[in-house]
This record gives sequence, C-alpha cells and structure tokens, in this order.
Amino acid sequence: MLAVGCGQITSDGPRCARALREQQAVGPESVPPGTAIGCGDEGISVNNKTGRQRRQPGPSRTEVEVVVESVTITDNRNGQTIEIPIVDGGIAADQWSKLLPGVWFFDPAFMTTASAESAITYVDGDNGVLEYRGYPIEQLTKQSTYLEVAYLLLHGELPTADQAEKWVQEITYHTFIHENMRKRFLEGFNYDAHPMGILVSAIAALSTYYPDAKNIFDPKVRHKQIIRLIAKMPTLAAAAHRYSVGMPFVYPDNSHDFPSNFLSMVLKTPESRFDANPTLVRAMDALFILHADHEQNCSTAALRVVASSQVDPYSACAAACAALYGPLHGGANEAVIRMLSEIGCLENVPAFIRSVKEGHGRLQGFGHRVYKNYDPRAKIIRDIAYDVFDVTGKNPLLDIALGLEEVALADEYFISRKLYPNVDFYSGLIYQAMGFPVEMFPVLFAVPRVAGWVAHWVEMLEHNTKIARPRQLYVGHRRRDYVPMSSR
Ligand code: CMC
Repeated sequence: MLAVGCGQITSDGPRCARALREQQAVGPESVPPGTAIGCGDEGISVNNKTGRQRRQPGPSRTEVEVVVESVTITDNRNGQTIEIPIVDGGIAADQWSKLLPGVWFFDPAFMTTASAESAITYVDGDNGVLEYRGYPIEQLTKQSTYLEVAYLLLHGELPTADQAEKWVQEITYHTFIHENMRKRFLEGFNYDAHPMGILVSAIAALSTYYPDAKNIFDPKVRHKQIIRLIAKMPTLAAAAHRYSVGMPFVYPDNSHDFPSNFLSMVLKTPESRFDANPTLVRAMDALFILHADHEQNCSTAALRVVASSQVDPYSACAAACAALYGPLHGGANEAVIRMLSEIGCLENVPAFIRSVKEGHGRLQGFGHRVYKNYDPRAKIIRDIAYDVFDVTGKNPLLDIALGLEEVALADEYFISRKLYPNVDFYSGLIYQAMGFPVEMFPVLFAVPRVAGWVAHWVEMLEHNTKIARPRQLYVGHRRRDYVPMSSR
C-alpha cells in the first residue's frame, strides 16, 4: 500500500528544485529534508500568483533561491520515503520510479500525466487563457498572420522584417505538388472519398517523394521538410476537396498571399484569376491562427509518440492528421453542423438539451479536457462569424447555435461539469457560410495545425530522442496450456 503526501510545502529554508531533483537521482533517501542547495545551471522562479515554480528560459544564472514545493511519498511496505519537488506544476516520474520500481502510474488517456516539457503554447484552462510563445491569442488573431504565427511557433520569436520576407518567400515557392502525386495518387481515390481520408494518405505519401526527409537530425533537411509541409498542406487539402466534389484541380497561384491562395484553389471556378473578398481572407487567416497549435492535444500527442520512433516527419504528421479526423477532436466541427441541422429550429433546443442530459449523445462543440471555462478561441470565432455573415449572409443555423449555448450555459448539468463552447462550436458555421462542405471542416483544422505539429516535432527532437513506450497494468490470464480445438 502506498501513502502519498501531496503538496507538502517545505518551510525549512530556501532550496533549488532542480538541484534537489538531481540530488535525489542518487537515491531516495540521499537528500535530507531542509538541505540548502545552490542551483548551478538553470533559473527557477516562483509565480507569485499560483505559487508554482517555473523554469526561466534564457541565460543561465549562478544561484537562485526559491521556496520549494514538493510532495513526499512513502512506501508503506518498507517505510522508505522520497521527497520530489514540484517543478513547473509537475513531479518527475523518474524520481517516483526510484522509490517504486515496477509500480506504474496508472493514467489511461493521460488525464494527469504531462508527457512533455514544452515552451510553445500555454493554456490556462481554468481562466480561458491561450498564448503562443507568450503572445495572447486575442492579439495574434487581430494583428498577425498565419505564416508569421507559424514562424513564431517554430522559432520562439516573431520574425524581423527580413526573416518574415524570407520565410514567406520560401513557403510561397513550395506550394506545388509533384504532378504524379496529383495524377496517379490523388486521382486513384474513389469518386466520393472523404477529403480527410485523402489528406491523411497524401501527407504520408509525401515521404515517398522526399526520401531525404528521413535524415531528421540534419537541421537543413529538417527545415526543408517543415517548409514543404506548411506550404503543401493547402494544396493537398484543396486538391482533396476538388477531387471529392468532381471539380478540376487548381494550381497554386504564387501571386496570392497564403489564405487567398488557399481560397482560390478551393473555390475558383471559370474565372482566370480568383480574388477572394478581403473579409473572408482575413477570417480564413484568423481561423488558421486559432487552429495552429494547442499544446499536447490528441493529434500533437500522436505526432510526438510516432515521431519518437525517429520516422520521417511526413509519416508522423500523417499519424497526427489521422488523430485529428476523429469526432472527439478535429471532426467535432463537422459533428456540430450535423447536430444543428438535426435540431432544425430554435423550438427544438430544450428537447435536444434534455436528450443530451439523459445520455443520448453529446452536445457537440461543447466541453474540453483542459478548458473548464469558455474556450478563448470560441469567443474570437463567434465574433469573426458576424464579420463573415456580413459578406455571405447569415448562416440560418446560427440562431440554433446561440440558443443552444444560452440554454446550456444556464443548465445545472453543463454548469456543474464546466462544459462551455469549444473551438469547434462556431467554426463550422463560418466554413459553411463560406461555401465549404461539412466533409472539409476537419481538413480546414488540419491545414494550419501542421505548424504546431512541426514545432512540437522540432522541440521533441531537441529535448528528447527516447522512444515513447508506456507501460500497462496486465489484467489478463497468466500462463496456461494450449487447448486443442477438439477439446474446447
Ligand atoms: N455533452 C454532454 N456531456 C458532456 C460533454 C458534451 N459535449 N462533454 C463532456 N460531457 C460530460 C460527460 O458525459 C461526463 O459526465 P459524467 O461525469 O456525468 O460522466 C463529464 O462531462 C466529463 O466528460 P469526459 O468525457 O470525461 O471529459 P473529457 O475531458 O474526457 O472529454 C471532450 C473532453 C472534448 C472529448 C468531451 O467534452 C466531448 O466529447 N465533447 C464533444 C466533442 C467535441 O466538441 N470535441 C472537440 C474538442 S475541442 C477541439 C479539439 O480538441 O479538437
């Protein structure tokens, strides 16, 4: 039996959490409680508001004094004890396993497991905060562009004017796909193939066109694949759409900016040049920014697991894209529109809410593993919807969505479970008003999410190259003898 003393804050003098962690690597009982240790290589500060320790990026500091938060774990089988510091809101599992070798932390669906240290995206789910590299999502959607945000996610800083120009130029001149890819691969799908299925396969197929991509530890090769992935996603996505609706492929037009080019490849009909409405272009770009990253979500976690095997980034991104296809993740925006259409009119909203509460299905686009407050992306998207509807005319499903939100947010079932609209609740209404079929919604999520995937890929390779390999708690039969068919 294990007794876990959680959140015990040491009060017997200043210590350095990292140093304590390193000392403990020597053995469970090697650090006497209250030992004062200087921290040599990394800055650690305490957040005054949360009391949490946070490592400081940037130049190293020689000595930092902090009050340590820690947990003490006692193995009641033998009385051995270990004190583990809480750093950045987490405790190191390698310390746990020193005290308890062979005892696994049982955490299906990673409800309480941090699988990575990351400096890319910060989410505060209780307060509805989302920041990319420290920049609030509200500012980025108003003032930045998707390509600038992709640069920020990857490089950690906003680009200078020269860096931005070079970056945009590189992306713009890698938007074309190999003709064989279009003619032989994309055209091989069945006429009514779901575009997300096409996209997942097409991303994986890219690895066969760029075999150099497997040299993942060469920074130049890595950079090339990142450019290709970000640049070709819109082309592949648009091609998947055009094919699935029986329309001819539209080549990228490099005189367009990134979102205009995408809209042109998707929507262009007979005109020689397609110039999308600036409000719609801006809305598309803002939606790309909002979907670019979301820390360790299901698809990014899938990417990290798959990429940890050191496979090429196309194969890893294809795995991530497959994860995004699911209705609990990127497929939810499609499910929202289907749900709103089924509800049909405002009068049916209370009955629908009742049926959800009785366990008949879920309110799609509501709830989130991390946000226990209004998803900040949903708020921004709701505002963008009104701008788009000024151009396209109002999506008639908007009133049902607003009605659902109003009823749900006042209902004890949703209040007590902290269920609020998430990013998928309003985005589909915009996509539909812009003329995208519902099958394209998860594809529209995937196009910009590739920026987050590659940022996490690079971060992971730079931090840790160990293969992801969780343990299991085996609950099946132990050894037994084979029974011949005649005796069963
Ligand atoms: N409608 C009704 N009840 C819900 C919903 C919902 N949308 N979401 C959660 N609940 C209930 C659930 O039944 C459970 O109730 P109880 O405690 O009585 O059993 C409680 O709330 C906790 O739910 P959970 O399934 O344990 O929560 P989770 O963190 O595992 O799941 C989620 C998160 C997003 C998968 C879930 O909220 C959900 O299925 N939402 C609908 C699908 C959706 O909108 N997905 C998009 C997520 S955001 C974008 C993205 O990641 O791609």
